[in-house]
Amino acid sequence: MALARRQFDAVVVGAGGAGLRAALQLAEAGLKVAVLSKVFPTRSHTVAAQGGIGAALGNMGEDSWLWHMYDTVKGSDYLGDQDAIEFLCREAPQTVIELEHFGLPFDRNDDGTIYQRPFGGHSMNYGEKPVQRSCCAADRTGHAMLHALYQRNVRANTQFFVEWLALDLIRDAEGNVLGVTALEMETGEVYLLQGRATLFATGGAGRIFSATTNAFINTGDGLGMAARAGIPLEDMEFWQFHPTGVAGAGVLITEGVRGEGGYLLNKNGERFMERYAPNMKDLASRDVVARAMATEIKEGRGAGKNGDYILLKLDHLGVETIEKRLPGIREIAKKFANVDPVKDPVPVVPTVHYQMGGIPTNYLGQVLVPGKDGPNTIVGGFYAAGECACASVHGANRLGTNSLTDLVVFGKAAGNTMIRYLQENPRHRALPADAGDYTRSRLARLDSQKAGESVHQVGNDMRRTMQLHCGVFRFPDLLTDGVTKIKEIAARSTRTGIQDKSKIFNTARVEALELDNLIEVARSSMVSAEARKESRGAHDRADFPNRDDAAWLKHSLWFKDGDRLDYKPVNLKPLSAASFEPKARVY
Ligand code: FUM
Repeated sequence: MALARRQFDAVVVGAGGAGLRAALQLAEAGLKVAVLSKVFPTRSHTVAAQGGIGAALGNMGEDSWLWHMYDTVKGSDYLGDQDAIEFLCREAPQTVIELEHFGLPFDRNDDGTIYQRPFGGHSMNYGEKPVQRSCCAADRTGHAMLHALYQRNVRANTQFFVEWLALDLIRDAEGNVLGVTALEMETGEVYLLQGRATLFATGGAGRIFSATTNAFINTGDGLGMAARAGIPLEDMEFWQFHPTGVAGAGVLITEGVRGEGGYLLNKNGERFMERYAPNMKDLASRDVVARAMATEIKEGRGAGKNGDYILLKLDHLGVETIEKRLPGIREIAKKFANVDPVKDPVPVVPTVHYQMGGIPTNYLGQVLVPGKDGPNTIVGGFYAAGECACASVHGANRLGTNSLTDLVVFGKAAGNTMIRYLQENPRHRALPADAGDYTRSRLARLDSQKAGESVHQVGNDMRRTMQLHCGVFRFPDLLTDGVTKIKEIAARSTRTGIQDKSKIFNTARVEALELDNLIEVARSSMVSAEARKESRGAHDRADFPNRDDAAWLKHSLWFKDGDRLDYKPVNLKPLSAASFEPKARVY
């Protein structure tokens, strides 16, 4: 039987910052927009973003989008595409002002302007000293952003499909994207949602690791769907470890703590970042700080009875500042570390936080694949924005606060590009006769395989393998073994089953479908990491300790079919600014 079908001008998958910003642009243009979300929109993972959104407003002193651009290029270890980075940094100030006008309750200076705090890797005058660039709403900026954008979308008549899981991308014979198949979780019904344009804004996939700041919903659904539909995944070897996850719990403690003046100590009470980054110290780029912390622990200077964490000291900020600027952190530290930071330091460890890679796009949100127009051939009707996309502005390492900037700048840009495409393509393309068959076969396999392997067990093995074999420091033998293991786990994931249907809730089916997506992300990450024979940004190999621009200043593209890797050049040419040529990266 054919799947029930619904038609929209645009289908947006994901209701975090990028999805909501794009949907708003589309809905305010009078288009019929469907937004699918696994959770209620204001519970999307953007809600967990704490420290702020980066934009060179210059409210606290001199700043410039060019300095922001320089910091972003340097932070990316020169792997970022400079046209996209210029676009991000130039657009950031007006995008933040727009959010302010949408009602986002930013913290204020006495003169009424938006308060900005320092953040890692953000500097004044091309690396001279830290700058205050992060626009924040205390330590709940993502939460405030989601509420402002959601309310605005409700006003614009965006149609929300809440607790819906997108399953597969629908493409025609020419490769154009025509929408998605999707599961209504409550009823278990599967639909075909047809869009003249489709945007993926499905967020990250930190759940491929055992210790992550990511929510349980971050299962790489967009990446899995794209990979299964023949779209490559770009730069998947680059995973950011946030320096300050609560030890043993993984919950994020914002870099804003160090922005406000907190700092890291080893067990000897030494402020060790002075040794690793003499200029920027605790506000060096995240990869640099995470590696320094891991080195301290590895060399026996970690704190605690097992010497396995670092101390984040902030009591000297005083209770008033902590309550005003970092109230959420105090709550998290009390709940998850049993520590009140107004008195005692918080135990922290580097924790998986962000994927720099994703679905290849340009700065307009168009999805790119190798094809008739070269490595960046545009896929008709398909767009991606936010963490699931690789524009690529973050390259090998993202700067803190640039994730929220990315969501709204590229969410809005993708919305505008889609509007133009919809004007030029006023009719729905014909659906292929077999649209929906692939999804039905996936569901039939799951539902028929009663005696298959446990989804939970396969997922745990995947998470443990990624954690052990693809960590802060990467070793050749572990990477090689990791590739073999992850391929075995991927094979096992095709044999999972829902064992006793009489005893389970229908979330078991959702978890099995999410595992299909996680596996593609894990496989692409491990294979791409093993292949990159250099150290750059968050990818640090013991056997190739240096960056190698001659051989590796290029983006990786992983294809699911045969685990094939291809590469494409980095764009070092900005839109209008002078380019920043690769040079040694010191903080
Ligand atoms: O530390 C933080 O508040 C995280 C910010 C980010 O990932 O951009």
